[in-house]
Amino acid sequence: MARRIRTEPSRTLAEFRLLPGFTARECSVDQVSLRTLVTAEPESFTLEIPLVSAAMQSVSGSQMAIALGEEGGLAVLFCSQSPANEAAMVREVKAATPASPTATRSADGRFLVAAAVNTHDHAERVPALVDAGADLLFVDASHGHSAFQADTIAWINAHCPTIPVIGGNVVTAEGFSFLVGAGAAGVKVGMGSGSICITQEQKGTGRGLATALIEVCGERDRHTRSSGRYVPIVADGGLVTAKDVVMALAIGADTAMLGRFFARADESTNPKVKFEGRWFKPYWGEGSNRARAWKEARYHQSAFEEGIDALVECAGPLHGMLAESLAMIRASMSTTGAASIPELHRIAELELVSGLSIREGQPHDVLLAPTTPPGAPSDGT
Ligand code: IMP
Repeated sequence: MARRIRTEPSRTLAEFRLLPGFTARECSVDQVSLRTLVTAEPESFTLEIPLVSAAMQSVSGSQMAIALGEEGGLAVLFCSQSPANEAAMVREVKAATPASPTATRSADGRFLVAAAVNTHDHAERVPALVDAGADLLFVDASHGHSAFQADTIAWINAHCPTIPVIGGNVVTAEGFSFLVGAGAAGVKVGMGSGSICITQEQKGTGRGLATALIEVCGERDRHTRSSGRYVPIVADGGLVTAKDVVMALAIGADTAMLGRFFARADESTNPKVKFEGRWFKPYWGEGSNRARAWKEARYHQSAFEEGIDALVECAGPLHGMLAESLAMIRASMSTTGAASIPELHRIAELELVSGLSIREGQPHDVLLAPTTPPGAPSDGT
């Protein structure tokens, strides 16, 4: 029989709500800091906003890296391209001059550049990226609790000891400990929850992101208490709205990685397409056939698809999209009484809600006024 059968269902972020706390003057909306850690000591890189764009062909190229870096976030350049192309993207970002005082910078004042690597060609790719100026690497794998991942992290730490590497993805306490033991400076959490992901449907593997974060962040905190070293966590896959980001942070994540959200921005990699009178951007999974030969490097198989090819409605320039979402995150933190992300980790109280209670939180038992755009209350953007 199975080693273990858990009969408690796996939970998604959308099933939780935050309880309000005491809002002191110091945590009014305009005082809330979103500064956060992305890597553990000794190279403790920080971001001014806790948002990271996914390492995907249809999301994070050099334009996204520059635009999101200007906003204080971080794009992870995708590795499903040749090492030479990815290194050229790193160079492009390093050559752009950051303008904003809160842009994400490395010690030399240029943009901090993060790039993804896979577990197949790291011996060739990593030197090319580091030579081009990459500051931080993410191992891009759907299942990070593997011998291939440990080998890749060990190789990077041995050959490029000043470049921190974030491992992933994992969804269990064992997976977290494995990656930290292997030398990861941060851990990415999530499996099967992405908007274009069909891993759960195809293979039956995966976990609700809230449950995964609760278990992994609990293990991280135990690790901090026993070792004195804090390992930041990235929540990845299925974060749709600002409230999902806040919920992931409240559980214990330090940053949130989003694909669909950023694919809608003008600065994502693809041109807009018109469909039935509206403007969209193509958005496809790294495990879809559209990602072609590269999907094997992420999924260790090429016999079937683990992602779909989709469209997402255009949302305009990144700056405007972020202004609204960040205002929501700050307002939510202010209501919980947290003036910073570390404080949110200490004081947040979350509660599982019933389906009826979720319904109660939406407009109900009223007729929408004629001026209200149809569908506005449940619009998932
Ligand atoms: P989203 O923000 O919900 O769109 O999820 C984006 C995340 O989905 C990425 O950061 C990856 O972790 C994951 N992902 C990317 N491509 C695929 C795929 O083809 N199948 C499953 N997961 C994917």
